[in-house]
This record gives sequence, C-alpha cells and structure tokens, in this order.
Amino acid sequence: MKPYFQLDKDIVHLNHAAVAPWPCVTRDAVIAFANENTAIGSQNYLLWMQTEQQLKQKLAALINAQSTDEIAILKNTSEGLSFIAQGLEFTTGDNIVIPAEEFPSNKVVWQALKSQGVTTRLVITDGVENPEQALIDAMDERTRLLSCSSVQYARGLRLDLNQLGAACKLNNTLFCVDAIQSLGAIQFDAQACQADFVVADGHKWMCGPEGTALFYCRRDIQDKLQLRQHGWHMLKDPFDFSQQHSEIQIADNAQRFESGSPNMMGIAALNASLGLLLDIGIAKIQLAIISNVFYLQKQLASLSTITILSPTTNGQFAGIVTFQKDNVDNVKLCQYLQDNNVICAYRGDGVRFSPHFYTDKDIMDKAIKLVDSFT
Ligand SMILES: Cc1ncc(COP(=O)(O)O)c(C=O)c1O
Repeated sequence: MKPYFQLDKDIVHLNHAAVAPWPCVTRDAVIAFANENTAIGSQNYLLWMQTEQQLKQKLAALINAQSTDEIAILKNTSEGLSFIAQGLEFTTGDNIVIPAEEFPSNKVVWQALKSQGVTTRLVITDGVENPEQALIDAMDERTRLLSCSSVQYARGLRLDLNQLGAACKLNNTLFCVDAIQSLGAIQFDAQACQADFVVADGHKWMCGPEGTALFYCRRDIQDKLQLRQHGWHMLKDPFDFSQQHSEIQIADNAQRFESGSPNMMGIAALNASLGLLLDIGIAKIQLAIISNVFYLQKQLASLSTITILSPTTNGQFAGIVTFQKDNVDNVKLCQYLQDNNVICAYRGDGVRFSPHFYTDKDIMDKAIKLVDSFT
C-alpha cells in the first residue's frame, strides 16, 4: 500500500501540535495547482470555486455543522477569534471567561476589550481536579462568552465541551471553541457541544497548509456579529458587477465573513488533506492517536527520570504528551532532540511530543531512546 506520508526516513516527526507535514496527496494537489496556473492561468476559475465549496462541505462534515452556510474560510485562528471579539457588542461590566493556559491568540483578543470595560477572567485549569467545573464556577450573569481550546496547546488537557456548552446555554453565555488542537485528530460535534463559534487553522492535525482556517458561526447568531472587514466577496452575489450603483446586499450566510479573494492554493491543499483524513475516518484516526500517545506515556513512564506533565486519564488528553526529565535542562533536552532530527517543541515547561495516526512505534522508540540517553 502506498504510504500516506513520505517523510525522510531519518525524520522523527512528533510535532503535529505545531505545524504538521503534508500528506502526499496535498503535495500533489499543490503541484497540480501550480502547473495549471503556469499553463492556463485562471481559465478554470469555476473549478477552483467548486473546490472551495467542496472544502466547506468537508469542514461542515468534520465538525457536524448544520450546513456550509455556517462555514467561512479565513486566514487563521487569530483572525476568526478577532472577528468574534471585535464583532460582538459589549457593555462596561461584561466579562469573558477563559482558561489561564490558553494559547496567546485566545487571550489577547479578549484582553484587548479592556478599554470597553470588559474583564477577561483567567481560570486555572491545569492540574485542577475538575477543570470544566472551575470554568463554570467562574461564570456569572455578566459572562457574555466562554472561550476555550478543545485541547490545550502546551500540556494537552482535553476539555468536556458538551458539559461546557450546556452550562453556557443555561447561563445565556456564548460558547467559543478554538479547535485547532483537535480537528483532524479527534471527533468534534459543534451541535452536540452547542458551540456558537469554532475556529481552527489547517496546519496542525488537519495536515494542511498554514493560512487556511475554518471559521464556524452558528447560523442564527451570524447577524449578532458586526462586520469589521468589508469587500466584494462578502456580497450576496459577488460576481454580479452590474449592481455597483444599488445598495449593497451582504451574504446572509457565513460568506459574509470572507471579504476578498479566497486563498485558492491553500484551499486546494487543505481540501486534499481533509479528503484523505475523512476517507480514513476520524474515529479510526482518533483511536490510532490515542493509542500512540498512550504508548509514549507508557514508554516515558518506564524511564524512572521522567515526570509526565500532561493529563493521562482517559478522555482528558488527545494527541499531546508533555514531560520533563529530572536533573537536566529540559530546554537543552529539546534542542538535543531537534539536533537529532526529532521534531518536537518546548511548551508548558517541558518537552512536547505530538504524534499523528500514521506515526510508527519504531519512530517513537527512536525519540524515547534519545530522551533516555541525554544527560
Ligand atoms: C490552541 C491554539 N490556538 C491557535 C493557534 C495558532 O493560531 P493561528 O492559526 O492564528 O496561527 C495555536 C498554534 O499553536 C494553538 O495551539
């Protein structure tokens, strides 16, 4: 069977929580796009638009959105979060609740609302017995929005989104999920968790390029977001250039968040990556990732010098395992691993490994051996 990925054989890629390698189908799609552009330019632009729609269908299926009317394709997660923060109307005294351990993008957008009298409540969830309850307890009648990552970037805590979404509904609070650390790795259901917003760039577990991101906005709250960017592509009929003198009509679906020309090359690439993942099946991918992380946890724990910083309880982790080695400089350990072709990251005061479904055991064994040998 043809392998899905063709990493060099000396590369140990354990960094899907940062920027993933591309599958072969994605490379082929980008080469085909480049060849087409070189030979015939945009003659087949209508076909590119079909690919754009196909990608929206795949993204809708991936998160169980009601329809593609709830899906926009933006530049990145930060842009989507900014649309929400800048688009909602707040009044002085409102607050927003987030885990203290969020990635900077899911902090600064809310903290920037301080000048409007909005407080951002940072709730410690790392090492807490019931992190969901800690977040719920931090909400009150002035909590306008709860925003969290489905899986935290540094130590990989996976939150029970259904519980959080239900609590938000009860409290009349909007629910925003940064799903970049779970889409493509574990199953996600925007309807079951009652998310109002879901954002995720494509370059991590979805194995696509940087700069092509999902922005989900539940249909019946789309008109609650003031639009802060404008352009031709967000109009109801963007290709009808005869209406330049009439009143503008903005699309009544998520296309309203796409102001200008789409990133067609990124779209071709992410469409190929997601096509592969959906063909394999996210349930199957999830099983393989959890099994790989479990293997890493077990192998690391068998080295007496290792402390695992990530949650190890079933259901509380996805694709990330972060650890420290005793009595060594762990920043140097991470550098040593990277110098030896182990692609990983230093996050959450430890070394972070993040294998995908296709990562072989012998690849992980190479990394463990190097961790063991470092002094
Ligand atoms: C949880 C989380 N959110 C957002 C991002 C990145 O956001 P963007 O797509 O804006 O680069 C990362 C990247 O590491 C992340 O881990």
